[in-house]
Amino acid sequence: MNIFLIGFMGSGKSTLGKELAQQLRRSFIETDDWIERSEEKKISEIFSEKGETHFREKESLFLHQLQLVDECIIATGGGMPCYKNNMELMNQLGMTIWLDVEENMLVERLKKEKNVRPLLANVENVEQKIHELLKMRSPSYSKAKHIIKNPTANNLLELIASG
Ligand code: S3P
Repeated sequence: MNIFLIGFMGSGKSTLGKELAQQLRRSFIETDDWIERSEEKKISEIFSEKGETHFREKESLFLHQLQLVDECIIATGGGMPCYKNNMELMNQLGMTIWLDVEENMLVERLKKEKNVRPLLANVENVEQKIHELLKMRSPSYSKAKHIIKNPTANNLLELIASG
């Protein structure tokens, strides 16, 4: 069964995903990474040159291709669960886990890397933007089959072992 890690930017999907894949000896897939390779551009360039809609189309396209893989750990882009029927599709394709990290922790992490995040790069009030996005996205994230507050590799491994 595939395991989808979902959640806001900065919630640890990539870092924890790599660690889980290593511990469980599974392949690790990152949707942003696949999109960057297929477009031969950085995510920030895709946003600025082709626009967010194009990026969201690529995300959905890639998600459909994931119907062909199994037993992978998949770190998804922070907006992916919130567009089209992506969340429903992920729930069909495997175990979905929302890495639910407290807002102030996300703000602390994301302020440091604001410039590489296209949705935050030109924003004056980053806290406010994160607050708004989280409010808008939480209903989609909460459709995940499992929710882990303050995720760590250990509590994720426990959940996967029991699930
Ligand atoms: C986005 C999150 C990013 C990346 C893109 C858009 C979002 O992924 O897909 O910049 O809409 O929240 P991470 O969540 O891995 O940072």
